[in-house]
Amino acid sequence: DIWPVILSGGSGTRLWPLSRTERPKQMLTLGQDQPMILATAARAVGAGYHDPIVVAGEAHRELVEKAFEGAPLSALILEPAARNTAPAIAMAAHHVAAADPEGQILVMPSDHLIRDEAAFRRAVDSARELATDGWLVTFGIQPDHPETGYGYIEAGEPLGAAGRRVATFREKPDRETAEDFLRSGGFYWNAGIFLMKARAYLDALAAHEPRIASACVEAFEASGAAGKVVRPGYDAFFRCASQSIDYAVMEPAEKKAVVPVDMGWSDIGSFAALHEVLAQDEDGNVAVGDALVEDCRGSLLWSDGPLIGAVGLDNLVVVAAEDCVVVLPRERAQDVKAIVEKLKAAG
Ligand code: GDD
Ligand code: MG
Repeated sequence: DIWPVILSGGSGTRLWPLSRTERPKQMLTLGQDQPMILATAARAVGAGYHDPIVVAGEAHRELVEKAFEGAPLSALILEPAARNTAPAIAMAAHHVAAADPEGQILVMPSDHLIRDEAAFRRAVDSARELATDGWLVTFGIQPDHPETGYGYIEAGEPLGAAGRRVATFREKPDRETAEDFLRSGGFYWNAGIFLMKARAYLDALAAHEPRIASACVEAFEASGAAGKVVRPGYDAFFRCASQSIDYAVMEPAEKKAVVPVDMGWSDIGSFAALHEVLAQDEDGNVAVGDALVEDCRGSLLWSDGPLIGAVGLDNLVVVAAEDCVVVLPRERAQDVKAIVEKLKAAG
């Protein structure tokens, strides 16, 4: 059976001021009809699927519980501290392996958009057999620019009908390497979604990061449960090193596969990406909330309250939250984090 595992750790600072510490990106709707974390849960349902397991920081407990009011959950695993995705996934994998020794985990970030859900489900279906055979399966997105914030997957020989062996997995290459990968072809972006036997993940973690693996065994053995809420043993988890699944397991693992999929995927990593995925008018503008737009092109006008009046703007992002306004060129959308850092430094 498949156990969806939803990772809810980050806060999405590049979408500030829409995302805040107390209102992380995965809790926003971002132009869809439900919070991203619920949309994530809703796309992994059906025959052979268990209710999802959410792994989140203790600080986000109430947010997650509120979001899932009325939506089914198998478990809510609360980390006492953020240790990145390798330990977070290990906690869920132990939980699954204890209940279902052959169980597969479908690991999903809580803050991605997938427009073609049918394509997503077909890809997961076609990965099941590979996962049953012990492959760590990734999902590959056709790259269209040398993004340095993603993992790159070089596809090798065919495996079954839909998969390929992963020849190399390279997390967050530098610009030059990413450009080389794009030029040479045959590379995919890692979507950050994985299907694998819980046991296979734990074995790979033990092989490549034995100290993280054993801290996670201890944390699991010392965990306490109250209803659906599971708390890993504090000391062992706290002691665990911080590392992502991509570096800890996917780069070094032997038995890894990729299922390429065209599913309208976006991790909405910036306002530019948000502008790209939302419906644009004939001049390429996206207006959300109260906005009057006159003679603008290629701009994102987003209001959570005040009326925005925009005239003659070219390729700008204007975001009016309840208590602040941010304006910047669309092509510098990533730089909003400079403001977040200034605010942090100012306390
Ligand atoms: N529970 C929990 N605990 N979740 C976490 C933690 C943690 O400590 N750290 C990160 N997450 C969650 C994030 O909220 C996100 O949903 C997901 O795990 C991935 O983490 P990111 O921090 O967003 O990773 P990334 O974007 O740098 O890179 C990953 O995603 C790319 C695609 O968007 C990698 O898998 C790349 O290879 C991939 O291309
Ligand atoms: Mg991410």
